[in-house]
Formats: sequence, structure tokens, C-alpha cells
Amino acid sequence: MALFPLLQPFALLLLLLCQSTSAQSTTTTSAASTTTSTAATIYPGNSKYTYLGCYNETTTLNNTAMTRALQGTSESNDTMTVEVCLAFCAGSTYAGLEYTKECYCSPYISALSVKLDDAQCNLPCVANGSEICGGALKVSVYQLKSSTSTGKSAAPGSMGGSGRAAAGSALALGAVVGGLLWL
Ligand SMILES: *[C@@H]1O[C@H](CO)[C@@H](O)[C@H](O)[C@H]1NC(C)=O
Ligand SMILES: *[C@@H]1O[C@H](CO)[C@@H](O)[C@H](O)[C@H]1NC(C)=O
Ligand SMILES: *[C@@H]1O[C@H](CO)[C@@H](O)[C@H](O)[C@H]1NC(C)=O
Ligand SMILES: *[C@@H]1O[C@H](CO)[C@@H](O)[C@H](O)[C@H]1NC(C)=O
Repeated sequence: MALFPLLQPFALLLLLLCQSTSAQSTTTTSAASTTTSTAATIYPGNSKYTYLGCYNETTTLNNTAMTRALQGTSESNDTMTVEVCLAFCAGSTYAGLEYTKECYCSPYISALSVKLDDAQCNLPCVANGSEICGGALKVSVYQLKSSTSTGKSAAPGSMGGSGRAAAGSALALGAVVGGLLWL
């Protein structure tokens, strides 16, 4: 009889354990059924890059000398995924995937490139059908997290000392806004 109150906490713990285990298995089941669906989804990013949006390629525009939306180092092969591209572009402000397997790294997005609906980037990656790798003349763009430049640069040469200063004040502004939000 005196043991009963002592056992109660254990019984409660056991009950809670059972509940959390059953909750966990339900989550696992629904997650598994989501994974088996064939639709490719947008890879949200990793610790270094975050998804910015779907942008037009600019090569088909007149008088731009075929300049790309993301002009810079590039790679295209049959093992391309978002993860591979982000690793390949490591350090670049922008990384983008186009047409299932093309990866572009650049310090800026062309001012001529228009941001589109996410749905316009509708092609799965050649090496991972579960994630989106741009579209035909559409680029899934990722931005370096430490970068504070959210706008577009008109020219590649504009990333100079003043750009850094501007980035610094943007960071300061972000801290102020963040501080206000915190309050
Ligand atoms: C960019 O996308 C818009 C909307 O789809 C389209 O009207 C425009 O022609 C595109 N521009 C280029 C260069 O592809
Ligand atoms: C691009 O140039 C071609 C050939 O000069 C012309 O036919 C076409 O209309 C131009 N396109 C645009 C969007 O200006
Ligand atoms: C494709 O490119 C990535 C990035 O450069 C590289 O890591 C990978 O090995 C390449 N795959 C092939 C098959 O060349
Ligand atoms: C394929 O993409 C999915 C969704 O982004 C990801 O969870 C998975 O780890 C990727 N697999 C490989 C082998 O990259």
C-alpha cells in the first residue's frame, strides 16, 4: 500500500514514454510516405547557402553578349545535385542550378535577370530526382548566408570596397532591426 504512491511517478513516466514512442512512429510513417512521392521539391539550403528563388537565364536577351544570370565558374555533369553545386561554388555569393545539371557560381545576379515563380524552376536534378535543379533557361538560385547583399549588381566590377562598406552597414541595420524585433 505504501509502495503505490512511489510507483505512480514510474507509471506516469512509462505512459509518457509510450505516448512519445507512438507519436514518433506516426511521424516516421507519414514522413516515409511523403518521401516515396515522386515530385521533386526545392532543396531549402544547408548551413552555408539558403534558397533565394527561381530566376530567368539571360542568354537569350539581345545585346547582352550571352551573359548569364550567374556569370562565373561553372560545371555541368551527370552527378549534379544541389548539394554538389553548393559545394562546388563554396565561397561564391551566389550558386545556381539550371536545366537539371548545370551549376553556376557568381558574385552577383545579373540585373537583367527577373525573379520568377518558384514553379518555373520545374526540372529535377539529373542525379537526384527528389530535388529541383532549375528549369529550361531558369535558374534555382542559392545565396551565401554570410552575404548581406540581397539586391542585384549591375556589373561584376561593382563588388569593391564600397560594396563591403555597404554590406557592413546592412549588417548593422540588420542587427538594429533584429534588436527591435527581439524587444
Ligand atoms: C523571364 O521570365 C518572364 C516570365 O516568365 C518572361 O516573360 C520573360 O520573357 C523572361 N525573359 C527571359 C530573358 O527569358
Ligand atoms: C532580338 O533581335 C532579333 C534580331 O535582331 C529581333 O528579331 C528580336 O525582335 C529581338 N528581340 C527583342 C526582345 O528585342
Ligand atoms: C561533377 O562535378 C562535381 C563538381 O565539380 C564533381 O565533384 C563531380 O565529381 C563531377 N562528376 C563527374 C562524373 O565528373
Ligand atoms: C536527394 O534529395 C533529397 C531531397 O533534397 C535529400 O534529402 C537526399 O539526401 C538527396 N540524396 C542524395 C543522394 O543526395
